[in-house]
Amino acid sequence: MKDLKWKDEFVLGIPAVDLQHKRIFDCFATLAEQGVTNPDRSLADPSVMQLVGLLQEHFALEESMMRVLSYPELERHIEEHRQFCAEVEELEQKSPSMEGSVSDQTIKVAQKWLREHILKSDRHYAEFFSGPQRN
Ligand SMILES: [Fe+2]
Ligand SMILES: [Fe+2]
Repeated sequence: MKDLKWKDEFVLGIPAVDLQHKRIFDCFATLAEQGVTNPDRSLADPSVMQLVGLLQEHFALEESMMRVLSYPELERHIEEHRQFCAEVEELEQKSPSMEGSVSDQTIKVAQKWLREHILKSDRHYAEFFSGPQRN
């Protein structure tokens, strides 16, 4: 799977956030590697559980920072996170594989979403946090 590697263009300049993003990317890479021999992963799979935990922790951190710093697009950003979670859930329900499994397709969609979300929406709040529009 291409584009799984962390790239400098994803750095937002907020160390705690960058570290979490990087960990999430590493987790996707691990899952993709495992997928070669195990195309259907269970939700109870330690790597999947780790990914879900990392994402929950990450969304919570971003949302609390945005609240503290009165980010004007807080609600829209939270909605993006919510939609992502709903989309992943829906994909899993539609998946032809066993219930409770995480398909390769879901991993791909989730990874692509994350990349685009970091480059656009996350970058937007990072610029706001460091920009002159904040008082
Ligand atoms: Fe993020
Ligand atoms: Fe985000």
